[in-house]
Amino acid sequence: MTVYRPDSLASFGKQWSQMTCSCLALDLTCCSVLGHSWLTPHCCSFLISSGVEDNMKWKDRDLKRLTALDLTAPASDALLKNRKNAWIQVAGHPGSFAPAGPNTIWKKRMEKENYETKTYQALMDEPLRDMVPTFHREVEYNGEYFIEMEDLLQHFSDPNIMDIKMGKRTFLELEVKNPVLRKDLYEKMVTIDPDAPTEEEKKQEAITKLRYMQFREQESSTADLGFRIEAIRMSGEPPNTNLKKTKSKEQVAQVILKFFKCQYPALDTLLTRLISIREKFENSKFFKCHEIIGSSLLIMYDAEKTGAWMIDFAKTIPVDSSLTLDHRSPWRIGTHEDGYLSGLDNLIMIVQGIVDDRHENVTVTEAAKGES
Ligand SMILES: Nc1ncnc2c1ncn2[C@@H]1O[C@H](COP(=O)(O)OP(=O)(O)O)[C@@H](O)[C@H]1O
Ligand SMILES: [Mg+2]
Repeated sequence: MTVYRPDSLASFGKQWSQMTCSCLALDLTCCSVLGHSWLTPHCCSFLISSGVEDNMKWKDRDLKRLTALDLTAPASDALLKNRKNAWIQVAGHPGSFAPAGPNTIWKKRMEKENYETKTYQALMDEPLRDMVPTFHREVEYNGEYFIEMEDLLQHFSDPNIMDIKMGKRTFLELEVKNPVLRKDLYEKMVTIDPDAPTEEEKKQEAITKLRYMQFREQESSTADLGFRIEAIRMSGEPPNTNLKKTKSKEQVAQVILKFFKCQYPALDTLLTRLISIREKFENSKFFKCHEIIGSSLLIMYDAEKTGAWMIDFAKTIPVDSSLTLDHRSPWRIGTHEDGYLSGLDNLIMIVQGIVDDRHENVTVTEAAKGES
């Protein structure tokens, strides 16, 4: 077998993936003979996740050294084949994620500021770390910045996925003063509700981002309940993002019940998890001084497991040191309150309601099944 040295990698070009294949094919003996200073993070994730590191008795310091390596190439096909699931993204910016290995993904930084990296870094030192994907590092690749983090899909087989956007406010305070009129947002508004624009907006055929965001908040459950269901993906099906008008508590409860197909043990697990997220969030030092806008709860379940995690911190921003946020008080400009915990309170209340009414709900859903 050919042994490649790190200094030869730069000129590797197309042979890179072949080399990665060889690397994966290495047995433990070869690995220890080769040493590991040249392995890519992809190989590294693979080895770590497959428990190889235990067999090799690597020490913490070695693992740290491995994860600190610079990324030299995107994940090869060979490595991606080791992933349990194809990449599924139910909401958010298209094209901003890339599978990075069997257990990690890269998220491209869309904002100028790296608020998301800073948030993940801070949360890794808080009890909330169990409630978010594990953060690995920020990577610069081809002049762009990415966050390498845990791929939550790895814990499931072809899961059902729900993305819930949290908070009563979905725009930043600085966006309030942005006067730019946008035709694309006008068009999006008309697609959702042709009667929504005012006469003046119809003439201009353009609206500000603030106007669009507030329209979306009113149209959905965000304004009243402090969260909205952004997207759902049922196992084996493509994502459904057509939930913009799910508004009342009853409508939300119906969507959640249908999503869980009346599987009450999964709903019980979800409820416990949401309560735990709330408790840790309430006690988080970080969130006392950061507003959290546009963040989601990612809920997933399959036949065996149920999980929920906080994701998307691109707009999680420090507030003035004179402010302490409770994430429940109503927002006025300058307070930076975002209503995240009000939303979580309502979501917990709705899930609790479903769980409490389980006998009644079974009858309702059975009846609905019969109708369809
Ligand atoms: N760590 C993760 N593991 C698995 N899926 C993820 C993870 N992070 C995001 N996703 C998927 O990508 C979608 C968008 O993620 P998000 O971070 O909200 O991106 P954006 O900033 O573009 O809104 C989520 O709804 C989910 O389907
Ligand atoms: Mg998002």
